[in-house]
Amino acid sequence: MIPLSFPAAAPELPAVLQSDEQIQQADRAHRTPDEAVGQPRRDAMRREGVDRLLPDGSPRSDDQEDTEQRVGIKRQRVLDPTFHRGSPRPPGRVVRYNTAVGPSPAVRRQPQEIDVSVPLLDLKAQFEPLREEIYDAIREVVEAQSFVLGATVERFEADLARFAGARHAVGCASGTDALILALASLGVGPGDEVLTTPFSFFSTASCAYKVGARPAFADIDEGTFNLDPAQLERAIGPKTRALLPVHLFGQCADMDAIGEIATRHGIPVIEDAAQALGAGYRSAERETTLRAGTIGDVGCYSFFPSKNLGGFGDGGLAVTDDDATAEQLRLLRVHGGRQMYEHRQVGWNSRLDAIQAAVLRVKLPHLDGWSRGRAANAERYDHWFEDSGLVAGGHVRLPGKLDRSTHIFNQYTLRVERRDDLRGHLQARGIGHSVYYPVPLHLQECFAELGYTEGSLPRAEQACREVISLPVYPELTPGEQERVVEEIRAFYR
Ligand SMILES: Cc1ncc(COP(=O)(O)O)c(C=O)c1O
Repeated sequence: MIPLSFPAAAPELPAVLQSDEQIQQADRAHRTPDEAVGQPRRDAMRREGVDRLLPDGSPRSDDQEDTEQRVGIKRQRVLDPTFHRGSPRPPGRVVRYNTAVGPSPAVRRQPQEIDVSVPLLDLKAQFEPLREEIYDAIREVVEAQSFVLGATVERFEADLARFAGARHAVGCASGTDALILALASLGVGPGDEVLTTPFSFFSTASCAYKVGARPAFADIDEGTFNLDPAQLERAIGPKTRALLPVHLFGQCADMDAIGEIATRHGIPVIEDAAQALGAGYRSAERETTLRAGTIGDVGCYSFFPSKNLGGFGDGGLAVTDDDATAEQLRLLRVHGGRQMYEHRQVGWNSRLDAIQAAVLRVKLPHLDGWSRGRAANAERYDHWFEDSGLVAGGHVRLPGKLDRSTHIFNQYTLRVERRDDLRGHLQARGIGHSVYYPVPLHLQECFAELGYTEGSLPRAEQACREVISLPVYPELTPGEQERVVEEIRAFYR
């Protein structure tokens, strides 16, 4: 049994927001810029990233809201001047506003007795030890005034190709674009179908539309959440021109089985490895271990900030061993022209920025270590959920593992009973979490014309009702994990 009691608040924490003045001050810190906050306060909030508007005054999108919740700790820092970036937070009970998950205004006005927040992701903790190195790398780009593709991007592409074990790496503007460019580089277009999973991020399916093709879906394996090869084979039709498995949450799909099906049907495989850069797959067929993204014909990565290798904005990259495909990828990312102003094809403007490449080059050598940290945290959760009785009690189902894949846990995702009630419980207690994904792709409104209905792909639909992802980032402390497990245990008690 794990020790699920908490030590008393560490003495150096200002455990209580004591005076009315302190409480009002804290309250003001969480009002929107439209509310009565002065300019200096607003500037300070902007520096801390807690304002409700973007710096240009426009409202935040849901994406930004979501990112903010995922990095919710930054709000807490405004309240907690003793917080030392990069150092573990001592768990403990304090009287504090629950700021990490966006409390209602009514709740915000009253101090509550809650625990220190545990964010879903803490990007600042990762940034802190690399701060100087990253600033130096960015400074170099700025001094060179070379911002789009160029030497820094080429160096990053070479580093990443070496890391992944691919012959070619082609940087582009996002993981979404990497998928679009990959399909286009293989000649997938109007009249074609791209067969993929319904349980993934939107781009996995939208990329097909963007090249004029249509997505088609096969159901998932209940344990790993990845495509079930048997379902995949059953869904192959006369129009299927590409298979698009996703290595969801950081674990490879069953690529030996999928590769065998692809070969038999003569269909290329594009791997959506947006969440799995660095994951390994022990291929029995090839008698070697390969990195995610290098097992099929083209592999696609995302450098969205919340990915295991996250940039300072959007970025993506495609890898391939095939020279002709690489050439196509390079052409299509710059308007389809080999020479400036001479275009044999219509391509895209989708290039990786040098500043992103500079940041990613600094981070890449740390990626395997971070992935090991995530895997260690996942293992600790597994043990503690087992020990808590939640698994035996049927309240919680642990993430399923595929023996052949090293899981790098971009997300630690459970199936749970009464998921939405649990969400409310965690939200009220400042425990960061998210649902990836609440709606399966085949039931998205924009894909209604494809003809799928509720019940078409029952496993994916059930996963959407049951999953919840918990904080698993490498800097997460055992104390924080203990809080997460304890709060979930308290909910089912
Ligand atoms: C599985 C999957 N595919 C594709 C993408 C798209 O990547 P990006 O956000 O860089 O466009 C993501 C990003 O969230 C993803 O998780």
